[in-house]
Amino acid sequence: MSEPLLRAIGVRKSYGHNEVLKGIDLDVRRGQVVCLLGPSGAGKSTFLRCLNHLETIDDGQVWVDGKPIGFELRNGKLYELRERDVAKQRRDIGMVFQRFNLFGHRTALENVIEGPIRVLGVAPDVARREGRELLDRVGLGERGDAYPAQLSGGQQQRVAIARSLAMKPKLMLFDEPTSALDPELVGEVLAVMNTLAADGMTMVVVTHEIAFASEAADEVVFMADGAVVETGPPERILKTPEHERTRQFLARVLA
Ligand SMILES: Nc1ncnc2c1ncn2[C@@H]1O[C@H](COP(=O)(O)OP(=O)(O)OP(=O)(O)O)[C@@H](O)[C@H]1O
Ligand SMILES: [Mg+2]
Repeated sequence: MSEPLLRAIGVRKSYGHNEVLKGIDLDVRRGQVVCLLGPSGAGKSTFLRCLNHLETIDDGQVWVDGKPIGFELRNGKLYELRERDVAKQRRDIGMVFQRFNLFGHRTALENVIEGPIRVLGVAPDVARREGRELLDRVGLGERGDAYPAQLSGGQQQRVAIARSLAMKPKLMLFDEPTSALDPELVGEVLAVMNTLAADGMTMVVVTHEIAFASEAADEVVFMADGAVVETGPPERILKTPEHERTRQFLARVLA
């Protein structure tokens, strides 16, 4: 079996005396979709932020595509990278949050092409063409000239996904991408994520959408109190969980 695209080993993180990640291990192979489930405060968002070094970890390692995130391997030793070099590594890792964080004074297309032009140095006409293709892919081919305020929450979130994809990431991290949406808009965003998954994108998705996890995930990881409680294929974790903690959580979200 091939080397995982993402490998987290013993990731620990404390805020003051509060240890919120108590040694998390996770392997995600290329093209795999992993859904992270767990109650509020479990450490899911913190863990995602550790994966792209938005948080400095206290112990453990995170490797993406054979490179240690936030560090450089020289002569068998890890040296912490400067912020500028971490930012470079981060380009490979797309992140979509609960809140869409689009630039309000820029159109949908301008939001999508900003990163490629400014950060990757893509020629504006090429970026525009690729940007339109990406908007097409998320079902917004006709709305490139709209400003965020003129779009629904679901449409804005799809623009945010297109904007992440424009950086051609190797890995996409989603942190409850549908939980700020009105219920009737959730499906259109999950449909885009399903398509992405089917197209082979490697994804780590924090979500409470059990139906999505059940359909799209290759693996489900249930976390509580900063630790992985159990992990396995969705049909097992979601239908026949071993741990009482997981059963209680599922009963609550499915209620
Ligand atoms: N910047 C911070 N400073 C101090 N404590 C923090 C910080 N960020 C998170 N925490 C604490 O870490 C713990 C885990 O938070 P985290 O946001 O990762 O949980 P979560 O699983 O994403 O929860 P939710 O489902 O509510 O989003 C919580 O106890 C939280 O209060
Ligand atoms: Mg969270």
